[in-house]
Formats: sequence, C-alpha cells, structure tokens
Amino acid sequence: MSDRLFIFDTTLRDGEQVPGCQLNTVEKIEVAKALEALGVDVIEAGFPVSSPGDFNSVVEISKAVTWPTICALTRAVENDIRVAAEALKYAKHPRIHTGIGTSDYHIKYKFNSTRDDILERAVGAVAFAKKFVEDVQFYAEDAGRTDNEYLARVVEAVIRAGATVINIPDTTGYCLPSEFGAKIKYLIDNVEGIDKVVIATHCHNDLGMATANTVTGVVNGARQAEVTINGIGERAGNTSLEEVVMTFRSHKDLGIDTNINATRITGISRMVSSLMNMPVQPNKAIVGRNAFAHSSGIHQDGVLKNRESYEIIDPKDVGIDENSIVLTARSGRAALKHRLHVLGIELSGADLDKAYEAFLKLADRKKEINDDDVLMIAGAHRKALNRIKLDFLQVTSGVGVHSVASVGLDIAGEKFEACASGNGPVDAAISAIKIIIRRKMLVKEFLIQAINKGSNDVGKVHMTVEHDGVPYYGFSANTDIVAASAEAFIDAINKFVR
Ligand code: KIV
Ligand code: ZN
Repeated sequence: MSDRLFIFDTTLRDGEQVPGCQLNTVEKIEVAKALEALGVDVIEAGFPVSSPGDFNSVVEISKAVTWPTICALTRAVENDIRVAAEALKYAKHPRIHTGIGTSDYHIKYKFNSTRDDILERAVGAVAFAKKFVEDVQFYAEDAGRTDNEYLARVVEAVIRAGATVINIPDTTGYCLPSEFGAKIKYLIDNVEGIDKVVIATHCHNDLGMATANTVTGVVNGARQAEVTINGIGERAGNTSLEEVVMTFRSHKDLGIDTNINATRITGISRMVSSLMNMPVQPNKAIVGRNAFAHSSGIHQDGVLKNRESYEIIDPKDVGIDENSIVLTARSGRAALKHRLHVLGIELSGADLDKAYEAFLKLADRKKEINDDDVLMIAGAHRKALNRIKLDFLQVTSGVGVHSVASVGLDIAGEKFEACASGNGPVDAAISAIKIIIRRKMLVKEFLIQAINKGSNDVGKVHMTVEHDGVPYYGFSANTDIVAASAEAFIDAINKFVR
C-alpha cells in the first residue's frame, strides 16, 4: 500500500500570474473542471484581494467544483484574509493560504523588519484566518533561503496557532535537491507538532531542479506537492504536475502515489497550453510533442520488439491514444463533441453548433483535424465574444512591390474600413488596423508557429502589444498567417479597448 501524496494545483494562481497567461472566468472554470476530472486534491483558484476578476473567479470555481479543496491566497494581512474568506463562501472544502517571507532577504529588504516581528505577523495571520475556515495553510515565502533554525521556530508557532498545512516554498528556485530534502527532514526532526500537519513543497524551476527538489522533499516526508500543468509559472516556471505524478508511478519502489487519473494528463496539458497561449517545448518530459517519439533506427527497432527496451512509460498511460479517430470533413458533431470531451472541454447546444461550423470550415482547408486544431476551434468560439472583430482583410504583396492591405473591422456591430501600405503584408494589415483604432500601440513580440507539418497547416501567432506602457497579449490561429497576425493584433487590442 502506497503513502498518499496530495496534489495541490496552482495553475490558476501561480501559473496564471505569468504575463500573457491570463484567463477569463469562463476559461478558469473550464480548467478547474478539468483539474477536478484529473483528480487533483486542491485547486488554488486565485488571490482574491488582487483584483475583482480574481475574486470572482474564486467565487465561480467554488460553485462549479465539488470534490477538490478550493484554496485562496492571501498575504499576512487581515483584509486579504477577510476578502479570501468571502470569495470562498461557496466552496464545499475551503482553504485559506496565508503567509509571509521568512528569509533574511525578505525580512530586511521587503519588510524592513526583524525576525521576531515576522514571526508574530505569521502567527497573527494564521490565527485570524482560523476565525473563517478550519483549513489554513501557511507559506514561509523564500523558505528555500531561510535559515533552518528560524524556519523551524516559525513553523512551530504557526502550527500552535492552528495551521493545518505548512508550505515550504523554494520561491527563487535556488535549492539543490539534497539541500531541500534536508530542510524538510530538519523540520520533521525539530518541530513539535509537525506530525499533526501536512508539509507541502512548492518549488520553482530557475535552475531546472523544481521536480528534483519536489521529489526529494516528498521522499523526506512532505505529503503535498504544489505543481502546475506543463510547469507553467513565473520566470522558469513551477514544478510540473505530470513530472511528479509520473515519477512516483514509475518508481513504485518509493511507495508513494497520488489520486491522479494519468490518462487525462495529455488532454489537460494541451488545453492549458492552448488557453494560456503557452506553447509546450517539444522535448518537455511527459507532455512534449517528442516525449514519446523515437527517431533513431536503433530505438525504433527496439521499441517495436519490446516497448520497455526504450520507454519507461507507456504513452497510453498518460492519455496518448495513437489509434484515436482522426477527424475529417466527414466527421459528425458527435465525433467533435467526443474529441473536445477527451481534451477536457464540454460543449453542447448552440456552442457545439458554432464550434462544429468552424470545424467544417477548417476541415475544408485542411485534410485532417488534430487536437491542436480542435482546441483552436474551441478558443475561436470563445473569441466570438470579442467586441472588435476582423470583418475582412485583403492584401496584395510580392517581390519588388509595396504591400497594401485593406481591412474591415466590426466594432460592437458598427463597420469601419481602412487601407494602408507597409514593408510587408503583416505590417500593411497592422497599419490599416491602427488607422481605425487610433490608439498608441506598439508590437513588442511577434511569434509565428506552424502547429504541425505541411504547407496546408494552421499557423499560430502570439503577439505582445504595448499600450500605455502595459503589455497585452494576443493570439490567433489560421491557415492564412497574415490573417492570423491581424487577428492576434485585434485579440490584444480587445484586452484594452473596452
Ligand atoms: O513561490 C512562492 O513562494 C509562492 C508563495 C506565495 C506560495 O508562490
Ligand atoms: Zn510560487
């Protein structure tokens, strides 16, 4: 019988904090439901005091989800805690996650304070949170660089104040696995009452060691791993859920397991990547496009003879179904609905009709529709709610001539047109859109990717547009890359022109 490791998913809080990954409430509910189906124990749904949007998302996720604990982040500030408790009022299993920086860097430079004062504030925050909910998790921010003796004092004090879970974040991704494992062991050996709480790891990947640190922390006694889908998160990201889950599945000798239904991993990975506009690197462990692709002849031969000669995980175990039905223009609505379901998206009624219409249009241009296309179609259907839409686009371009674009926009039902030239078709289209929108805006980043292979493929465009010093992210996908670029530009504009 394995020891149970609780999976705490923070894709919707630490992951969503990344510039460009912001989701609206509807999208967050979609991800939360997929996380519930995946089998996570805790969903960190947001930081309610940080914005009305975050507050609302915690409220709506609390209503939409049944089994997992719903957690809301706060600082060690009474108003944060009050607001978090209010946002959690519909949660069946609410948890407040409060805490404060405990490393000398945080104490001196962030708080201009002393160790004793920080300890007092930590205890005060936990005691205050206990007035609202039973389940209170405490985080010692930058625990990775906190002196172990002082960390143990803080942890012991907050346990006495009623904390049920103690989170030990390696906020800066600094620790070595041996060091992080020793930190967890030090707390187990030196803190009175530690056996009554769950210890959590929360590792960042700045040195590429987030998974190694998490695994070592768990081997040394932590029983909650804080993770994100695809390892998304600030800077180099957080520990990735799929890596931790599959490490313990693959190393049964460690005697630790989770409640995760691993066959849903690939679906949710693609869903999060698509909704958050965060491509997964092809060689990413478990969920990268090449994670199970064998190109060398020796490997292919070995795998054909016996899969285990070169593969430690059966791709089917993480939801890669090589025999899955390929969707084509002849596929029906039911096949599309099923594929969306496998990818964690539930559509029905008019929403499914719209997605199916878009599917048929794409299938006319592209012989086979893959999972990325299906996710794009689901995203396009959400985009139909945008206030500004591309009505038409005509571009003439070639070698030795100026590119000229004429563009039509539909802004809340009103039609506008403009024409402009540029040093290429994308530049011309963007200049024409700028004539209509008349705001100061600058394209800062522009990335075009083909989703698959072949010249008939769909191109994805990621774009960052700066307006009033703030970056806004736009995304689109289209078989015409000039159209995809114009649409991505308009998608970004929709985020600041309300
Ligand atoms: O990395 C970190 O320290 C965090 C805490 C707020 C838990 O995300
Ligand atoms: Zn973090």
